[in-house]
Parts: sequence; C-alpha cells; structure tokens
Amino acid sequence: MAEKVSWLITGASRGIGLELVRQLLSDPANIVIATCRNPSSATALNALASDLVNKGSLHIAQLDITDEDSIQGISSSVQDILGDGGLDYLLNNAAINVGDDIGFTLTSRALENSFRANVTGPALIAQALLPFIEKSNRKLIMNMSSGLASIGIDLGPKNASYSISKTALNMLTYKQAKIRPDLIVVCVDPGWVKTDMGGQGAFLEPHESVSQIIKVLTSRKQEHSGGFFRYDGETVPW
Ligand SMILES: NC(=O)c1ccc[n+]([C@@H]2O[C@H](COP(=O)([O-])OP(=O)(O)OC[C@H]3O[C@@H](n4cnc5c(N)ncnc54)[C@H](OP(=O)(O)O)[C@@H]3O)[C@@H](O)[C@H]2O)c1
Repeated sequence: MAEKVSWLITGASRGIGLELVRQLLSDPANIVIATCRNPSSATALNALASDLVNKGSLHIAQLDITDEDSIQGISSSVQDILGDGGLDYLLNNAAINVGDDIGFTLTSRALENSFRANVTGPALIAQALLPFIEKSNRKLIMNMSSGLASIGIDLGPKNASYSISKTALNMLTYKQAKIRPDLIVVCVDPGWVKTDMGGQGAFLEPHESVSQIIKVLTSRKQEHSGGFFRYDGETVPW
C-alpha cells in the first residue's frame, strides 16, 4: 500500500483552494485537510465529501486566517485527524484582494487588512502547525503568491495593497526558508486564473493551474527552498 501523504489547504471553499482539494482527492494516498472559514456554507467543498470518485480522504476543518483563536484551534483539529502523523504539505492558499488601489491613495484599512490576511495569517498558521510539519518526512510549506508580488515582472501601479502584501509574503517565505533549512518553503504564482479573484477574463482554468502546481510542489527539493516559482515551475523574478 502507498504511504499516506497529508496536506492542509487554507481557503478551500472556492477557487484555486477548492480545485487543489478536488485534484488531491483523486489519489488514494492523500489525506486532505481542507480548511475554510465557514464549513457549513462551503457547499462545493461539502459536495466533494460525498463524491464517490474521490479516493483520498477528506477532512473539513474551520479556519479563519485572520482570527488568532481560530489559528490556534487548527492545531487541535490537525491533532485529532493526524494523531501521531506529521503534516507533509501546508498550502497557505487563502488570501484577499482589496481591489485596484494605487500607491498614493491606498488606505490604512486596505493595507492592514491585506497584511492581516495575506502575511500575518500564513505566518501564524505555519507557526501553529510547525510541530506537525516537523514530524513529517516531506516538510513543505507553500505560500501562494502572485505575479503582482514581483517587481521584476513590472506589472505597474495597479492593486497596490494586495501587491505589497504578497511581496511581503515572499519575504516571509525567504525568512522561513533561511531559519529552517530542514524544511522546504516556497512561494508560488498560480498564474492568472478564472476564479472570483482572477475574474472570468483570466487566462487559465483552475484545473490547468492546479494540476501544474501539484507537480511543482511534489517535485520541489531542498535546493528550491526560499524560491519563487510559477505554476509551471519557472522561476519568477523577485
Ligand atoms: N486567481 C488568480 O488569478 C490569482 C492570481 C495570483 C495569485 N492568486 C492567489 O491564489 C490564491 C487563491 O486565489 P483564488 O483566485 O482562488 O481566490 P478566490 O476565488 O477569491 O478565493 C479566495 C479563498 O480565500 C478564502 N479566504 C479569504 N479570506 C479568508 C479568511 N479570512 N479565512 C479563511 N479563508 C479566507 C476564501 O474563503 P471564503 O469563501 O470564506 O471567502 C476563498 O476560499 C490566493 O492566495 C490569491 O492571492 C490568484
């Protein structure tokens, strides 16, 4: 029997997070902890629980990435699900995009909310789950970034608060990788994807982005830790 592989995904109610869960469940080796802030209203995620095509095991847990009590609570949910097992993959996917603000008109509220969800949340979740990650043989953390985080790609003035927060998330990734060389910590740009955040004019269907992200994650090695990768594995300029 194949060895079990455990995954925890934030923001699994819709979009890229939901598609990650859907694709991971096709492998019977996967134990998927799908987290969302309102499990009772996550209709599409709950539907996956009763979908007989799924071969992996699905556990749905409550996690609001902006709520420190909720973040502390996820440890006991993970303990109940994994027991003595470790967490192989932590996917910090959930995020908010406060909209198209610019560098000279952004508000403290927009910037602070962006930081709380897109930087502080992933940082505290990794801290809370570190004991489980340490117990695994894989020890991979993905922080979902964006092309908008890259100064090198040069996407211009749009979405300032969101972009600034995702650039900070990239720095968090680098700092986590540097202090813990025994882990693999990467940031990933999923591309422009047709979701509520990406809009219907985006280039990629969620399944196209996610199938490649899973290949990138499962093929990362120690030498990749601290790096910034596109969904297709290309290195993204900082
Ligand atoms: N789509 C794109 O083109 C694109 C491009 C670059 C990067 N990304 C990144 O890819 C990731 C997924 O984006 P997406 O396109 O799937 O976005 P989305 O369709 O807007 O979905 C966002 C997800 O994050 C969750 N979320 C937001 N705030 C949360 C909170 N406080 N606690 C827990 N969950 C929360 C949402 O849950 P609720 O249902 O409860 O609101 C939802 O599941 C994000 O990190 C995003 O920045 C996306």
